[in-house]
Amino acid sequence: MADKPSFRLIPHSNPVPDAERAQLIADPGFGKIFTDHMVVIRWSVGTGWHDAEIRAREPFQLDPASAVLHYAQEIFEGMKAYRTGDGRVTLFRPEQNARRFNESAHRMAMPEIPEEMFLEAIEKLVALDKAWIPAGEGSLYLRPFMFANDVFLGVRPASEYIFCAIASPVGAYFKGGAKPIKVWVSQDYSRAARGGTGAAKCGGNYAGSLLPQAEAIQRGCDQVVFLDAAEHRWVEELGGMNIFFVMDDGSLITPPLGTILPGITRDSVITLARDNGLVVREENYGFDQWQADAASGRLREVFACGTAAVIAAIGKVESKGSEFMVANGETGAVTEKLRDGLVRLQRGESNDGHGWLRTIPLD
Ligand code: PLP
Ligand code: COI
Repeated sequence: MADKPSFRLIPHSNPVPDAERAQLIADPGFGKIFTDHMVVIRWSVGTGWHDAEIRAREPFQLDPASAVLHYAQEIFEGMKAYRTGDGRVTLFRPEQNARRFNESAHRMAMPEIPEEMFLEAIEKLVALDKAWIPAGEGSLYLRPFMFANDVFLGVRPASEYIFCAIASPVGAYFKGGAKPIKVWVSQDYSRAARGGTGAAKCGGNYAGSLLPQAEAIQRGCDQVVFLDAAEHRWVEELGGMNIFFVMDDGSLITPPLGTILPGITRDSVITLARDNGLVVREENYGFDQWQADAASGRLREVFACGTAAVIAAIGKVESKGSEFMVANGETGAVTEKLRDGLVRLQRGESNDGHGWLRTIPLD
């Protein structure tokens, strides 16, 4: 059984001055600047979770034999805090991140963290560093993560772990802002196989995606699209986003769960689309079909979605030996409507009929 430690607050003795912070968050980009504080909670066999602290963000000291450096027992989450028009600070479905974090932990043979502790860690960090939340379209990207910290070279689940959460003021994920993105469909590399770790948000999945992602960038594309590992045929997801296809009858197709990351944005889009009377099918869709449907006009729009990118239209598709456009390279009406609906909901500008927003207590 895990302990339930109370959080010890050790405020930063020398936080970034107001004027400098204001300058930093005016045009933050993505993942480049960080707030003053971080949360750290330790776990060890026998003691469970202990020593929960919120303190100045600073480097870790790791022994060269620390398990994470060798066998990559590491998981993370990505979520955002928003400043709403009426002055609240909110999180979007954070309990889903807590749940997925624990599913990732289970898959990687790591200890689970009580959901309330995960949520308290995030809320306390956001409340303390709330001045870092950018105004306007920006948000505070939160990165909870956990890694094995045993000093031991044997291959087995570690007996010590560190949970940490950091925060980063962010703007648009893609440099082009809301412009449709170009994707590169990799036919040489896959992201995940059945029985593998595809559904877990573990660092290793991203390490394996970097070479195909670099190929995508080399070809002038923004993101790599992965096909399934067995047949190299079925579309799975992008390096850091899920994918939806909008057909000419107004229905949506998105790849089924299994080897892909079960995106919280994906789940929200499915719900919002159904709220709007659209039919959504979670089914396999082949790259050959994608090309044929784009050529025949049966396929009207394609978009990617995730916490970092929100909803981004896919305007151009490239792969070895083929290149084609979708929706004339523009953002289609269904994509636009879903993005607008989701963004307004996340920012507290529309009715939160699903109870997805969690207001953070600010003192
Ligand atoms: N797929 C991958 C591989 C991701 O990294 C992400 C981003 O977190 C997603 C999908 C979308 O997940 P979510 O909507 O929960 O952010
Ligand atoms: C996210 O959307 O939160 C991710 O973790 C994906 C990454 C591209 C930043």
